[in-house]
Amino acid sequence: MKILVTGGLGFIGSNFIRYTLKNSPETHVVNLDLQTYAGNPENLKDLSGDKRYFWVRGDISEPAIVGQAMAGCEAVVHFAAESHVDRSILDPGPFLKTNVFGTQVLLDAARAEKVKRFIHVSTDEVYGSIPGRRRSTEKDPLFPNSPYAASKAASDHLARAAFMTHGLPVIITRASNNFGPYQYPEKAMPLMITNFLENKSYPLYGDGLNVRDWLYVKDHVAAIAYVLRKGVPGEIYNIGGDTSLKNKELVSYVRKMMEISPSLVASVPDRPGHDRRYALNDSKLRKLGFKFQYPFEKALKETIDWYKTCPSWWKPLKESGGYRDYYQKQYLKKSVSLSLPS
Ligand code: NAD
Ligand code: TYD
Repeated sequence: MKILVTGGLGFIGSNFIRYTLKNSPETHVVNLDLQTYAGNPENLKDLSGDKRYFWVRGDISEPAIVGQAMAGCEAVVHFAAESHVDRSILDPGPFLKTNVFGTQVLLDAARAEKVKRFIHVSTDEVYGSIPGRRRSTEKDPLFPNSPYAASKAASDHLARAAFMTHGLPVIITRASNNFGPYQYPEKAMPLMITNFLENKSYPLYGDGLNVRDWLYVKDHVAAIAYVLRKGVPGEIYNIGGDTSLKNKELVSYVRKMMEISPSLVASVPDRPGHDRRYALNDSKLRKLGFKFQYPFEKALKETIDWYKTCPSWWKPLKESGGYRDYYQKQYLKKSVSLSLPS
């Protein structure tokens, strides 16, 4: 079978392609990826020479290239997105173009190609902040609070509409915060680990009491592959990590595992609209028969070890202009707003 993966040069997409080619010898993968700042051919360097893998450099919002890349594919697994909340606060435009418009272009092409499955990869952030001890189920309404989450919620609605209107066999997955190898070092977990490795401080937003549910990327991609085989069209499946931690707790977990002093954690002003808590109920996926494999502690240790052994992967990303500009912009924005008269 030939499948189209979008965003396969990114963090989760590259882990998914590696998992698929290893576990499904019959499958051929076309990877449609624009290679934005987050897309990195190094993430799949180990696949060079594998005739079952082919990368098309292109934009999911361009119908012509999407049609060509999808030709002959039986399934689509759609990861491509602008994915970082902080960037969406500074500039939502690319989030609307890729996450909303790009998703519709893919859905239209999938209908023309009559694909047998379209997996739309989404996030727990579409449910918004969840108070108390509740966990979001797939039936909950969507209350996204950041431009990123709003653009993903819009794309979820479009994916569902393609199923309801045209019978396109769409399945939506909504996962919690991922961590693991090849995650761009702007997200909390790799930023924390690589800053500690460089003896730099980690900026903890606000009071550090925001809760996230941590999911190892290897469990996430295995769950997506499982849903591709066993999931029911028109359904939504939550994929949680079963490891809810306050940000403060996560930092001290990582710090202790890496033997880092508490002085390397710096409190900084909070992210605007910072969601307090995400939590997923994923009993529907478990009932479908999926079994998670990685306990949090083992996964975290593997992840820290990976970043320790791969500075040649993450150092150039941290040193590149784009990364520095982004943080400088964010810093300047904060100093300006702090110095304004009340
Ligand atoms: P990422 O930012 O690491 O990778 C995104 C990839 O998409 C990059 O390779 C980039 O080049 C590509 N891309 C961006 N715009 C494109 C365009 N217009 N055309 C083609 N390719 C384009 O993202 P990620 O963390 O791997 O997330 C993948 C998906 O999983 C996203 O849809 C995200 O919303 C979802 N998700 C992520 C998490 C998480 O914790 N990272 C959790 C739940 C869901
Ligand atoms: P992030 O990895 O950006 O994922 P998301 O916001 O999509 O959940 O952030 C995870 C949590 O860590 C979130 O509560 C924000 C917080 N955070 C920090 O405290 N400091 C940071 O430098 C970053 C990037 C995130």
